[in-house]
Amino acid sequence: MSAQPTIYLVTGGGRGIGFSLVQALSTRPNTVVYAGVRSFPPGADSDLGRLAAQSPTVVLPIKLTSGSIEDNHAAAAAIKGKFGMLHCVIACAGVSSGLSSVLSATPSQMRSDFETNSISPLVLFQALAPLLLATHAASPGSASPKFVAISSQRGQITDCMAYTFDSYGCSKAALNYLIKKMDVEHPQIISFPIHPGSVKTEMGHAGVAALSVKLEDIGGISAEESAAGILSVIDKATKESQGGRFCTWEGEQLPF
Ligand SMILES: NC(=O)c1ccc[n+]([C@@H]2O[C@H](COP(=O)([O-])OP(=O)(O)OC[C@H]3O[C@@H](n4cnc5c(N)ncnc54)[C@H](OP(=O)(O)O)[C@@H]3O)[C@@H](O)[C@H]2O)c1
Repeated sequence: MSAQPTIYLVTGGGRGIGFSLVQALSTRPNTVVYAGVRSFPPGADSDLGRLAAQSPTVVLPIKLTSGSIEDNHAAAAAIKGKFGMLHCVIACAGVSSGLSSVLSATPSQMRSDFETNSISPLVLFQALAPLLLATHAASPGSASPKFVAISSQRGQITDCMAYTFDSYGCSKAALNYLIKKMDVEHPQIISFPIHPGSVKTEMGHAGVAALSVKLEDIGGISAEESAAGILSVIDKATKESQGGRFCTWEGEQLPF
């Protein structure tokens, strides 16, 4: 009988950092990775469509529109039916409605960023926590299940003067608070937010273009590098070392 696989779920798994996380996880032995996408099924000619076709028992695309209670609970039911448990969730889907100021930020910018970046990870956790807790209950002495959120340094309050105001930063600050509270309320689950670096993705390029800067000129990293760093931090994380703490993809601890 083969050993129980380690089961991951990555949201925003169709492109950017999320896809690189799925791709890196798919190379690990005895691992299954659910790739959450809102546009389901992924096209046969998309990166995720090709990867899932190459590794159909390892990479499992799943419909997951951020914040949709229906999608999140349907995904949880599908994973429960197949495996009964889940070892690690990486909440990566995110949006940025662009730079603004306290005076110019519109309620719709604030709502959009909070909806995807702050509220959706809450909906995700509420749907999937029973599966993470089932993992812990099945082997309480083993590594604890994990719920990791891809946050941003722009959500720091301590060092917020390093950045201009934007609704995105507000939404990531709210996310950090939420994840820290998850960690406190659920001793069986290791929860923490992580900054992925300045990453050469659609969002990364758009974010610095607004400042007339190029990621290449400020040490921007590839999505593959970011994903490798994030997974290394996740692999090493224990409740004591990382639970409820904020760090970078390189494992450097950050103040909230
Ligand atoms: N790139 C950076 O420099 C950087 C820096 C700090 C933090 N981050 C964070 O890293 C995470 C990934 O960003 P990225 O750079 O990879 O951005 P990206 O390339 O723009 O990808 C964003 C991902 O989020 C998904 N998404 C957005 N809204 C969604 C929704 N309502 N439902 C489901 N999926 C949704 C997108 O899916 P679709 O393909 O369906 O649109 C896509 O997979 C985000 O949380 C971002 O805030 C990025």
